[in-house]
Amino acid sequence: MANGNPRLKSVNLVRRTSDLRYTAEAMMNPSQSGVELAEEYLSTQSDRVSAWLERLVPAETVEPPVLHRAMRYSLLASGKRLRPALCIAAGEAFGAQESELLPVACALEMIHTYSLIHDDLPSMDDDDFRRGRPTCHKTFGEATAILAGDALMTLAFRILAIEGVSDGREANRLRIIAGISAAAGTPGGMVAGQVLDLEGEKTPVDAGGLDRLHAAKTGALLTVSVVAGALCGDADAGVVERLKRFGAGLGLAFQIADDILDLTGTPEELGKTPGKDVASGKCTYPSLYGIDGSIDRARATIGEALEVIEPLGPRVDRLRQLACFVIDRRK
Ligand code: IPE
Ligand code: IPE
Ligand code: MG
Ligand code: MG
Ligand code: MG
Repeated sequence: MANGNPRLKSVNLVRRTSDLRYTAEAMMNPSQSGVELAEEYLSTQSDRVSAWLERLVPAETVEPPVLHRAMRYSLLASGKRLRPALCIAAGEAFGAQESELLPVACALEMIHTYSLIHDDLPSMDDDDFRRGRPTCHKTFGEATAILAGDALMTLAFRILAIEGVSDGREANRLRIIAGISAAAGTPGGMVAGQVLDLEGEKTPVDAGGLDRLHAAKTGALLTVSVVAGALCGDADAGVVERLKRFGAGLGLAFQIADDILDLTGTPEELGKTPGKDVASGKCTYPSLYGIDGSIDRARATIGEALEVIEPLGPRVDRLRQLACFVIDRRK
């Protein structure tokens, strides 16, 4: 590790980027940074998304209760809800209706939660804590955790197929489904990235390989969250292309920050166990570039992503705030 013992080093990403103010709102109110605005927004959207999720997932009393308890246990725990927030921010920037947008946002959160449940399994990252509580398999056993993940993914696609699809919007929804399934699967999607991540524990990964790994395991779902939201509205092809490039940058920066936080965060902040990447010999940004090098790369990546959406004007300020949050977060 280029930076000595990373545990002795307190990295305050907030302080490092507090000079960056990206939003019109923040400029008018200098006491509030883009990050603070993003945290407020995430908290509001989180309540909204959780209320929808509550309705969309079978109740614990429905047979088989243990399956629905396990699904709800992981899904309704305290995640940041970043993917639905990105989807809603992009959608509302381009005039999407709540009835069309929220089911898509919720489906993204279900797919993300399924990926976390499987990511934590003993055969993968073998983690005991997630979202501030014991992992799904620790609480319900491995078989139920695997099946809860499967059920969250399949339910997500059912919701995408049937919820909030109004007359004349079917082709648009099909396009969204195609995008989300590609981002969640392979090639280039989350499942492919998870395989590359596990292979990286045994085989050296170079800089280009790590970027492809991060783009697949994390970037693809974050990118499609932005794009799917915009497609629920009336964003044209040029806008969607810009948002795709923005999402890819945001996604990479998000995973770089996740890698940094694994070294610098506390269990209380993260709601998961830090220090696991080094322990399992993962190839991460800090393992290749050190912590300072990783922070610089995350900042530069977000800077480029913000430049890409510069022409879209103040309507995408929420996306700008969320981009600030991605690199300044402590959880
Ligand atoms: C964790 O994602 C897994 C990664 C892709 C790095 P989040 O940090 O968004 O987890 P939650 O949703 O807030 O729990
Ligand atoms: C997981 O990446 C990405 C997923 C697809 C779930 P990590 O393994 O780094 O995520 P954490 O650190 O366990 O949340
Ligand atoms: Mg993992
Ligand atoms: Mg993990
Ligand atoms: Mg991680």
